[in-house]
Amino acid sequence: VSWVSWLEGQTRAIEQSRRRRVIRDLDARGPVGLLSGGKRVVSFASNDYLGLSFHPQVLAAACDALHRWGAGAGSARLIVGSRPIHSELEAELAAWKDAERALVFASGYAANHGVLGALGGKDALVCSDELNHASIIDGCRLSRAEVAVYHHADVDQLDAILSRSNKRALVVTDAVFSMDGDIAPLADIARVCARRGALLVVDEAHAVLGPEVPDGAHVLRVGTLSKSLGSMGGFVCGPARWIELVVNRARSFVFTTASAPPVAAAALAALRVVRSPEGCALKNRLRSLVDRLAPGHPSPIVPVILGDEQRSLDAATRLLERGLLVPAIRPPTVPPGGSRLRISLSAAHTEEQVDVLCDALRATIYQGADA
Ligand SMILES: Cc1ncc(COP(=O)(O)O)c(C=O)c1O
Repeated sequence: VSWVSWLEGQTRAIEQSRRRRVIRDLDARGPVGLLSGGKRVVSFASNDYLGLSFHPQVLAAACDALHRWGAGAGSARLIVGSRPIHSELEAELAAWKDAERALVFASGYAANHGVLGALGGKDALVCSDELNHASIIDGCRLSRAEVAVYHHADVDQLDAILSRSNKRALVVTDAVFSMDGDIAPLADIARVCARRGALLVVDEAHAVLGPEVPDGAHVLRVGTLSKSLGSMGGFVCGPARWIELVVNRARSFVFTTASAPPVAAAALAALRVVRSPEGCALKNRLRSLVDRLAPGHPSPIVPVILGDEQRSLDAATRLLERGLLVPAIRPPTVPPGGSRLRISLSAAHTEEQVDVLCDALRATIYQGADA
């Protein structure tokens, strides 16, 4: 088979599946911006949950770091792209999560790859929730471990799997699931892990409004700097001995350039805002906006499940006509039959913008859909 015919076949397959994806630019700082072509929209497509990507202190810290250390770190942390800002950020992350040590990666995606790759091995069992993020799924593959996928949030099934194995076991779960916005039963999972001697790895990428992660000597917390902290990068934190192992074994840490100093400085400044009274106020504001759209929903990710792919695309188009950018999510990101709109709210939205969205959803979509 020649490359030309292979490429044509692949392209045809994408077209025929009607799942071709295109990149659209949004010229924006915050929720309001211009789409390529010039249409003004309010975006509900960002994970900048607290609006910190454009907070004045964050911008100032990034500028200072840019002038002090330059645009890029030039090499991997270990040889020696590490700058004082990386260590300072790690110390603050560890303090925030009440952990002994934290380690920063270039992205949250790389953090999951690195942690699962470092802790796996043929003698390990990795148990993963079926709705975990793609970076965890790929990390499981890289771990070289036996992988058992348990039904979503099914703690009894998880317990049964662990009870049948005598391998060293690791359980990995999102704290907040990225396409449904629901939360993992972390207290129950932690109890099962403790009883079965399993290590628990929790990905808190979207956990801006909770849930609490139980502490423990055998708990590692993965997070991202790219969502609530408005910057770019990922991290893991936990007991120092575990993090030391990750430093030495995580390939996505060892073999990649350190994050750019302005990016690390932006994350540190954002983290300081999050830990201040202003951060509490921003979270309260986000909580109240979520309640305005979906009272009591546990996270700022609110799905409107429509099932059918075309129905979801049509719904997104109708909302766009009203100036509302809400992405339609289709397989393979969600299972077949689970196509949906994915609304993500930010403290940077106004009450009015959320009310306009509610009215538009009512007018254009709700005829028996689940939210
Ligand atoms: C649950 C989860 N983990 C990890 C990631 C990856 O984080 P990042 O965007 O920082 O690579 C994402 C991002 O989409 C996510 O939703």
